[in-house]
Amino acid sequence: MLHDLKPYTPGEQPRVPGLIKLNTNEHPLPPSEQAVEALQGITGDALRRYPDPDSLGLRSAIADAEDLSIDQVFVGNGSDEVLAHIFKGLLTSQERLLTPDITYSFYPVWAALYGLPLVEIPLNPAFGIDWQLFLEQPGAILIANPNAPTGRALALTDIVDVVTSNPERLFVIDEAYFGFGADSAARLVPSTDNLVVTRSLSKSHALAGLRVGYALASPVLVEGLRRVKDSFNSYPLDALAQAAARAAIQDGQWFRNGSAFVVRNREALASGLEGLGFEVCPSAANFVFARHPGFAGAELFEHLRQHQILVRRWDKPRIADYLRITVGSESDCRALLDCLAEKIGGEPRSDSESP
Ligand SMILES: Cc1ncc(COP(=O)(O)O)c(C=O)c1O
Repeated sequence: MLHDLKPYTPGEQPRVPGLIKLNTNEHPLPPSEQAVEALQGITGDALRRYPDPDSLGLRSAIADAEDLSIDQVFVGNGSDEVLAHIFKGLLTSQERLLTPDITYSFYPVWAALYGLPLVEIPLNPAFGIDWQLFLEQPGAILIANPNAPTGRALALTDIVDVVTSNPERLFVIDEAYFGFGADSAARLVPSTDNLVVTRSLSKSHALAGLRVGYALASPVLVEGLRRVKDSFNSYPLDALAQAAARAAIQDGQWFRNGSAFVVRNREALASGLEGLGFEVCPSAANFVFARHPGFAGAELFEHLRQHQILVRRWDKPRIADYLRITVGSESDCRALLDCLAEKIGGEPRSDSESP
């Protein structure tokens, strides 16, 4: 069993001076100052003691922000841990799990780890979802919205429709890229008991280093997750993570400004890439997914890498020619466009057009 496990491979985190790092969808801005101050305010005495096992302060801040009650909120070390508990606690009892064929590559890893049959439903050629293909077979449905690595968002009306008209089926909507343009399904949580929405503070709040994620669901589903968590680790979030994440959630102004900044840079990056002849998938995330009809993805990836610019690429059918490029600062995006222009032979766009 152990020999057969193929663990998830995260994006590289090299510590190379001068590297432009656009490969793991980290936020280009520093996090909320209030979050940093909350970290600095942690006393030695707070560290001497175990943290709150129920993360009450953080969960109540999330509940307030989402207009939910605290028993509809579950927190974990990154949405990866939250998703792992969802697999163990809520999905292994299901007949099978349906996910898109192109999506977050951790899903098949958890399915294999927990012995859950996984069916990958093909996305259409534009990387859109054909709900009918999902609904024609039994099983729970797990979809990232917006999807990764494509960045495409689902219409909220479709999610509302399928979740409410299939009450016997469990839906997990992974909103790791919440805040950058996709409509959230969180407002369905009070009226459904077959939906779990997961979120991450890694992207939306520039806190990838803190490892905080959460799930929104009915109290019964949250209680199920709590049982799994407490059978695994009774003190999952440390005192620093609880305090900083709570302050970050309460700083709504930072979240709105930070998201608007990323969206502005994303649109400029996408139009810069289109100006160089790239096909860019419409994105509601903090990255774009793009390919050039005249160049192999591997060649462009290597060219960027040689110039100290790191993006992400997968050697997988249908997407091998695509690059997933994190939306960086204006100067990082400009360096990427200039480097690609040099390879492709096109003119980089003028400053007023490019980010
Ligand atoms: C679709 C998706 N879900 C979940 C995660 C996990 O995020 P984290 O564990 O940092 O909260 C990621 C990270 O890249 C992701 O792309």
